[in-house]
Amino acid sequence: MEIENSWKEDLTSEDVLQFADGILSGESNCIANLSNLAALLGQALTGINWVGFYLREDSTQDLVLGPFAGRPACTRITPPKGVIGQAVQMATTLVVDNVLDFPGHIACDAESRSEIVVPVIVKRKITLVIDVDSPEYGRFGSHDQMLLEMLADKIAQAWPSMTWYQ
Ligand code: SME
Repeated sequence: MEIENSWKEDLTSEDVLQFADGILSGESNCIANLSNLAALLGQALTGINWVGFYLREDSTQDLVLGPFAGRPACTRITPPKGVIGQAVQMATTLVVDNVLDFPGHIACDAESRSEIVVPVIVKRKITLVIDVDSPEYGRFGSHDQMLLEMLADKIAQAWPSMTWYQ
């Protein structure tokens, strides 16, 4: 996919989902695809300071840092710790308007004030999560949730045919 030739500012949700389709259909390597999806969300979502993926490690069930855009972050989260651990344990999207009030929130970036975590469920198993942080309180609404859940579905559908570096 020639992202650089079709890039534009002010991406709509439809644009983002269309780019995501292009990313996921053009390449099978999961690191390449998640890297481009993190960069895509980093460009498309305004008022955020971190966006990326945590991937479930089979042997420990921990969520381990994957491709992202933002400052260096915590590498490993053990459920039910953090917003991510809670979202995984409850198997649901979590929107936190004020992370300072969330018991057990893991502050990777001290500037973060709100957060959304969306699990990606592949064959009934949470395989990874999408995590987005914002320095604004209450940054994430139903529009963001809908977009990220649709993206999570696309990732889940593509996941079984994704590859590593074999
Ligand atoms: N805040 C998350 C940890 C990951 S960072 O936000 C990148 C949590 O509480 O699980």
